[in-house]
This record gives sequence, C-alpha cells and structure tokens, in this order.
Amino acid sequence: MKNTSKILILSGLLAMAGAQFACEREAVVYGTFTGCDTASVTYTSSISPIIDQSCISCHAAAEPSSGISLSNYAQVKTYVDNGKLLGAVLHQSGYQPMPQTGTLTNCEIKKIRNWVNLGAPQ
Ligand code: HEC
Repeated sequence: MKNTSKILILSGLLAMAGAQFACEREAVVYGTFTGCDTASVTYTSSISPIIDQSCISCHAAAEPSSGISLSNYAQVKTYVDNGKLLGAVLHQSGYQPMPQTGTLTNCEIKKIRNWVNLGAPQ
C-alpha cells in the first residue's frame, strides 16, 4: 500500500473519531443521553407541565404578567401562533427572554421548539 493511501485511511479514521466525540458532547449538552424525548411531544404530556413549573407563577390568575395568560391550551396556542412563545423561550432578538426568573433545561427548550414545529399538538 502506498504511503499516501495509508495517510488517507489514517486521517479518515481520525475524522470519524472526532465526529464521534462531537456527537457525544452534543448529546450530553442537549440531554439526549438522559432520555429527552422530543419526538412525541403534546401539550398535555410535555408542554403543560413545563409551563406549570416555570411560567404559570407569573402568567396566570387575574393579573398575569404583561396580560399574557398561559393557563390552558387555547391561551398558549395564541402565543405559539404569534411567534412570541418561541421568541421568548429561545431568547430571540426582539422578544423578552423567558422565563424571566429561573431557567429552562436544554431538554425543555428542545421540547417546546419541537412541539411548535410539529404544529403544537394538543
Ligand atoms: C417571574 C415572572 C415571569 C416568569 C416566571 C415568566 N414570565 Fe413571561 N413575562 C413576564 C413579564 C413581566 C413579561 C413582560 C416583559 C416586558 O414586557 O418587559 C413577560 C412576557 C412574556 C412574553 C411576551 C414576550 C414578548 O417579547 O412579547 C411571553 C411569550 C412570555 N412571557 C412567556 C413566558 C413563558 C413561556 C414562560 C415560562 C417558560 C415565562 N414567560 C415565565 C414575567 C414572567
């Protein structure tokens, strides 16, 4: 075998090993190793519990923050449709970053993003 072929094979193997490490790191960062199921997200199973825990303290009751109530599907869907939910949760420019206090985990953020991308199934 020519030396150049050996070098090619070797660098190929190194590249694969590198990709493997990158994947693992991403999986840890985004929580896939801890069973972050973002594929079958629905409002009832995945989103409502996140909102109850991280948003409802401010966005419910008689005088919700900014007049934004997130206590049921229809209310949340309003902010899905006008883009404010994702804008706020993904900290996009032009939106108020949410939650205002506390944080969402990467897995929770991924769930919300995928849920919106799936058309916000109930
Ligand atoms: C500690 C109270 C608090 C918590 C917790 C909180 N919010 Fe808010 N939220 C506010 C306030 C106050 C505003 C209005 C901010 C402003 O206009 O300066 C707001 C604004 C918003 C807006 C409008 C953003 C925009 O740019 O128009 C959305 C959407 C929103 N919140 C969603 C959420 C979601 C989703 C969560 C949970 C992940 C959450 N909020 C958690 C207090 C809170």
